Amino acid sequence: MVERAGRVENKVAIVTGAGSTPGPGIGTGKATAVALAREGASVLLVDRYAERAEQTLRLIEDEGGKAAVFAADLTDARASEQMVRTAVDTFGELHILVNNIGLAAVGTVVDVSEEDWDRSLDINLRTAFLASKYAVPAMIEAGGGSIVNISSISALRGDGTVAYSAAKGGLLAMTVDMAYSHGRQGIRVNAIAPGHITTPMVLSVSAPGPRAEFMNTMRSEAGLLGSPGDGWDVAWAATFLASDEARWITGVTLPVESGVLSVTPLLMAPHLRAVPEPAPEPAAGSAVFEPPAPESSH
Ligand SMILES: NC(=O)c1ccc[n+]([C@@H]2O[C@H](COP(=O)([O-])OP(=O)(O)OC[C@H]3O[C@@H](n4cnc5c(N)ncnc54)[C@H](O)[C@@H]3O)[C@@H](O)[C@H]2O)c1
Repeated sequence: MVERAGRVENKVAIVTGAGSTPGPGIGTGKATAVALAREGASVLLVDRYAERAEQTLRLIEDEGGKAAVFAADLTDARASEQMVRTAVDTFGELHILVNNIGLAAVGTVVDVSEEDWDRSLDINLRTAFLASKYAVPAMIEAGGGSIVNISSISALRGDGTVAYSAAKGGLLAMTVDMAYSHGRQGIRVNAIAPGHITTPMVLSVSAPGPRAEFMNTMRSEAGLLGSPGDGWDVAWAATFLASDEARWITGVTLPVESGVLSVTPLLMAPHLRAVPEPAPEPAAGSAVFEPPAPESSH
């Protein structure tokens, strides 16, 4: 059999939020880091919880891939600068940045608190701004690169998460501006808008039970394909955009959402109505949603 080079062979990548909220399934950052390593990249795995990134490291190393962990809260500018320096010191150059950190914030413009607004903007937008700020000069030094921003369909359609939507919309605006500003320096900047994918973070929002199962089925049925999506669907799209296969693609948003943005909601009603609905449970209230931290982080 002929050995083929990986699609990002010998590239150096940073993936932010490369751990995953504990639970069944896989987060988009973790899956993207594994996919990039499988395709030949050396990957700096960045997460504010070291143990989450270390789990990703073990997965990659068990498959013979190359990676290292950098544990930090990327809302901090010094940590972001240090992250880029660590990637270059450890692996020699920097070619790929996947800005994947994100946290949902439920609430309308009336009921979201100022603190939750600021926190959502910090986590979903400031982290991408800071990581890019320090990554771009390193990519210019390397002769070019690719940045992939993980946004959300919440940036494009209302869903009662005003602070999250504003931050993810800001990420799309940042994508086109960065694509314009750094195109001539050989840097491509694109975004992915995941839809109703199932990740451990999503599953941890509600207690397991009939209501959670109902919501999961509804998330699948809302899409044209009627099947569930997960972290791998985002990872494969991110790997394509990061690779030279996408060398003439910049400034775009790629929806990964089973076509929910391509249909009039009314047309999906028969599919959604066919899902039997269990009795409602009390609402969780409005706040920046915080998935459980690992025990050892406290
Ligand atoms: N899950 C979905 O349905 C969905 C839909 C649309 C978009 N997205 C986006 O996909 C991305 C990943 O979602 P996920 O469900 O895989 O989440 P996840 O919680 O499993 O993974 C995100 C990781 O980021 C880390 N992190 C959070 N804040 C950080 C900070 N300040 N500094 C460093 N690390 C930090 C967390 O510790 C976590 O390990 C997010 O940007 C999210 O908004 C998810």
